[in-house]
Amino acid sequence: LSPADPAHPPDAAPTGVSCAAIRAAEFARLDGSTYLNAASYGPLPERSLRAGREFQERRGAAALQVEDFGDTLERARRACARLVNAAESEIALTPNTSVGLNIAADLVRARARDGRRAIIVPDREFPANVYGWLSLRRDGFDVEITPVDDRGCPREDALLERVARGDVAALAISAVQFATGYRADLARLGAACRAHDTLFVVDGIQALGAVPVDVVADGIDVLASGGQKWLCGPFGAGFAYIRRDLIGAHEPHRPGWLSFRSTADFTRLLDYTWDLWDDARRFEVGSLGIQAFVELAHSIELILEAGVDRIFEHIRALQAPLLEWAADTRGAEPLLCGDGRTSGIIALRVDDALALNAALAAEGITCVPREGAVRFAPHFYNTNTEMERVVRVLRAACG
Ligand SMILES: Cc1ncc(COP(=O)(O)O)c(C=O)c1O
Repeated sequence: LSPADPAHPPDAAPTGVSCAAIRAAEFARLDGSTYLNAASYGPLPERSLRAGREFQERRGAAALQVEDFGDTLERARRACARLVNAAESEIALTPNTSVGLNIAADLVRARARDGRRAIIVPDREFPANVYGWLSLRRDGFDVEITPVDDRGCPREDALLERVARGDVAALAISAVQFATGYRADLARLGAACRAHDTLFVVDGIQALGAVPVDVVADGIDVLASGGQKWLCGPFGAGFAYIRRDLIGAHEPHRPGWLSFRSTADFTRLLDYTWDLWDDARRFEVGSLGIQAFVELAHSIELILEAGVDRIFEHIRALQAPLLEWAADTRGAEPLLCGDGRTSGIIALRVDDALALNAALAAEGITCVPREGAVRFAPHFYNTNTEMERVVRVLRAACG
């Protein structure tokens, strides 16, 4: 494989489908309420519901064909690869983010030969990006949870300085932090990790589908994500990107029976030949929830049709009235981190986040309270009209 791999085939170009058209065609079930909670889970679009149902109906009739398995998983890998500018061969399908992050932890353990023992994780990370690393303490690694500022945002300069000391095995960070919406400067962190031979691991779940992530431009070694949030996919289907140079150099710590080329022939399974796939499939462990990957592929294809750049632009426009309201309101503070770098999430710190969240819920507006703030996570299916109403409710509740 060369860097010229067609990670973006010609049909990946945004088609210019408008968000209004997408709402009508794919998310009409949201009408009647205002769903601002993609950071917890996104709604399944109609096309994914239809494809998933059709698959399950054939499953019910025991009418699945051999192609249904391989083709479905291939389609899902292709969609994941296009999403992050990877090659399909660098994608391992996983049930969720945690499994992908544990693949990264396994790589760090395997690379321990060079004597590096420090793993850096900023404080306030979602626990999926903490426990896998803590498990490496059993193998003698030191996990350093680095302090954040008073808004809960990682101090990137301090992270860079720490990496520059040259003893860091891995830096693991969320592309977008779940509670504050802090969006990491991935390219800057990735370049520093590359310069110091530190593995750069990214939890992508709060970014993918809402903000652009490019594993090549951002210098990411391993990226892990579930599909249930901004990608509007099902629960139980996600993926890990593993940079191609790392794949051949590492055997999976816990292989599954499908990690091997020899098991592709179901008529002859009992050779037990140790011939791992030379692509990221070697990290996939056993049978996957194929019905979920049918839905995930369709959901990501929708995101690609809309275009992540355009989705992000739309989300920013939706957030503007919220930020204007907060700027004019004493006691409402948006937790904006890092030079105005925003993401899909706006967290508004208020005196009583639970009460404000309840006031919004009473008006059919779904947000969630997180760590003393109300978290707003609008997406490409939300409209300006909805956001204007949200601000009217906020005014009534807080002044
Ligand atoms: C940053 C982050 N990582 C991971 C997860 C979920 O991890 P998993 O997909 O393993 O359930 C979440 C939210 O549920 C999250 O916000």
